[in-house]
Amino acid sequence: MSPTQLTAGAVAAGTEGRELELLHGAGCVRPGPVTFVRGRGARLESDQGESYIDTTASYGVACLGHAHPELGSALGSQAADLWALTPSYANERRGAYLTELTASVPAPLDRAFLSNSGTEAVEAALKIARWSTGRTGVVAAKRGFHGRSMGALSATAEPKYRKPFAPLVPGFSHVSYGDEEALAEALTPDTAAVILEVIQGEGGVRPAPSGYLARVRELCDQNGTLLIFDEVQTGFGRTGTLYGFEADGVAPDVLALGKGIAGGFPMGATLFGERIGQLPPGSHGSTFGGSPLACAVAHRTLEILRRDRLAERAARLGTRAIERLEPLKGNGTVRDVRGRGLMIGIEVRGRVAPIRQALFDQRILTLAAGVNVLRLLPPLVIDEDDWDTVLDAITEVLS
Ligand SMILES: Cc1ncc(COP(=O)(O)O)c(C=O)c1O
Repeated sequence: MSPTQLTAGAVAAGTEGRELELLHGAGCVRPGPVTFVRGRGARLESDQGESYIDTTASYGVACLGHAHPELGSALGSQAADLWALTPSYANERRGAYLTELTASVPAPLDRAFLSNSGTEAVEAALKIARWSTGRTGVVAAKRGFHGRSMGALSATAEPKYRKPFAPLVPGFSHVSYGDEEALAEALTPDTAAVILEVIQGEGGVRPAPSGYLARVRELCDQNGTLLIFDEVQTGFGRTGTLYGFEADGVAPDVLALGKGIAGGFPMGATLFGERIGQLPPGSHGSTFGGSPLACAVAHRTLEILRRDRLAERAARLGTRAIERLEPLKGNGTVRDVRGRGLMIGIEVRGRVAPIRQALFDQRILTLAAGVNVLRLLPPLVIDEDDWDTVLDAITEVLS
């Protein structure tokens, strides 16, 4: 069977079809025409036995690929010992992970709040900023994306996400990403934080212009404003370094992490330093956050990322992609090719949907970022031949 329409409302037949109907009944997910039953590395297998190359890593989450056997073992052995434990009680597994996580950050970000998603990590960052500065304002960037809870959504700029849920949290403003002067003007004595992605993901895979983040750091310091980096999408090797900010040599005061942090297991983390202080007991929390189960998988993920030098691998495969795709620029279809490591955006003239469909017909799963950017966020372990197959297919479709 060759699936036909990627987003046309097709629903698989059978029990899974009923499940999909129930899920899609909520309305906020677009139905896809294929049912997947298992995955390994960057490959997904359908219930028809067809193999797809996955360049989405499930929104960039499965950084070590699908069903990594060592993550399965970490999960299984922790599951035999202890699943849930409130953060009030010490746990060796959680302690060991937090030691590793905070040691992985080249800045004094030695305090951690653990949660279950990128949105929660951002939400905590915003609350930490308001609480520790006693100010209320937050400046974020146009085209930025930070999540969908009311606080994170208030930092998110795109009207299509915001409009249906207005009014949002007061105190948020948005400036053009990369515009230092606009930021300088937006800062006031009441600005608690500036929140930015180091490469805007959802907004079209847009790396910060050279020198911009350093200037933002200066402006924040001059104004007594905290700098929050949202590395939910860019963290954990995706952009060719463990954290995206390493490439710019600019450290934040607060760091929000998620997606690849636990290789596909739900987790979020917000790191901050001594300078920020401590939140009052009970002022913030998360029932499931930082369970020994999540910490076991996150710890193993970090070890494997390091052991297998996956950030370096992402840098190498990303460079290869840019070199292969850049000549397409200006060919009448492709406007721009950008990104870093295995976070790549290809901006096209017109809509990207037919291009994603053409790739889907070749059994390649891709993401969009907005209406005209093809976004690639493959597992960092993607097989080199598969990566070449993807680049060949994109070249052919866009030529
Ligand atoms: C930069 C960024 N921040 C926050 C989020 C929200 O993360 P989650 O969907 O895990 O809540 C996302 C999700 O795409 C993201 O890309």
